[in-house]
Amino acid sequence: MKKKIGILTGGGDCPGLNPAIRGCVYAAEKYGYECVGVTDGWKGLVEGTTIPLSREITEYIIMKGGTILGTSRTNPFKIEGGVQKCLDNFKKLGLHALVAMGGDDTLGVATRLYKDHKLNVVGVPKTMDNDLSVTDFTFGFDTSVTRAMEAAQSLMDTGASHHRIMVMEVMGRHAGWVALYTAIATAADYVCIPERKINTDEMIRKIKESYARKRFALVVTSEAAEMPEVGEDKIKHALDQFGHRILKDRGMGEHIAQFIEKNTGIETRQAVIGHMQRGGAPTLFDRMLATRVGLKAAELVHTGQFGMMSAMVGNQFVGVPLESATGALKTVSKEWFDLMEVLF
Ligand code: F6P
Repeated sequence: MKKKIGILTGGGDCPGLNPAIRGCVYAAEKYGYECVGVTDGWKGLVEGTTIPLSREITEYIIMKGGTILGTSRTNPFKIEGGVQKCLDNFKKLGLHALVAMGGDDTLGVATRLYKDHKLNVVGVPKTMDNDLSVTDFTFGFDTSVTRAMEAAQSLMDTGASHHRIMVMEVMGRHAGWVALYTAIATAADYVCIPERKINTDEMIRKIKESYARKRFALVVTSEAAEMPEVGEDKIKHALDQFGHRILKDRGMGEHIAQFIEKNTGIETRQAVIGHMQRGGAPTLFDRMLATRVGLKAAELVHTGQFGMMSAMVGNQFVGVPLESATGALKTVSKEWFDLMEVLF
């Protein structure tokens, strides 16, 4: 009988998950394994729900956004008996190994299941936020920024026509990568990221200068950017099962737009791209990256390297300890601040 690998996708979906599932299934079958999809992230392992997976089933999912397995933000460590159910279902389903595809939260659960319960787990890094340590990039990021870039360009057209200041809010959680790359790629006039408190005097001065020159301006802000003038008390703080603040209702784009309009006297509009940046067909880069980390994950299972995660390091695809990927978030570093001084 063939050994069985379960694959699950957890946390926020992102373009690239399907190519990664496909890559993993293709390689696993080549090594002689059978695959099964655990549905809706860790929720599926808690409940023991699966769907079939094979080369035929996954053949054309490389160009599809989202995840055919479904996802959730379920944390088995926060559910009574949740971890035991995961361990029982792992056995019941006859799994030899589990490949968990996710970001910090999903892989954090994988790390604990491996360390504390010796479960045969391998990780695959995904997140549009690009905030996982050890791997150079996570799939989902390139597509999300491409989508945000296109949206920002549309805002520039209308902003320039009406001679307005346009503010666009992007996701990315506590890392400013999505905002920073979007702003650089669209020649934005100012960017606000969570790693650097907004210097409001500088922001207003730069926007006024830009506006004086071309009669419109574009500001890109991360959903988690901080502006002392807003006052954290005005910002809502809902939490998810992993204890993370849900940032979408924070309204940072709106706060910034109001502040700019008040302090420049120039008509300002804001837009939130939200979940639109997380859907749709993956870009070529994400299809390739996801396929390769998926292939590598199957290889890690085959060579018995549990507790590891596939990662892109330089131009190589390697296994790295799961723990090192989930320990600390990769956020925008000081050297990028220097670059921001030049570009904005
Ligand atoms: O972590 C990915 C991400 O898209 C973040 O950028 C964002 O803050 C969050 O997920 C949104 O989560 P949800 O889809 O649960 O609203």
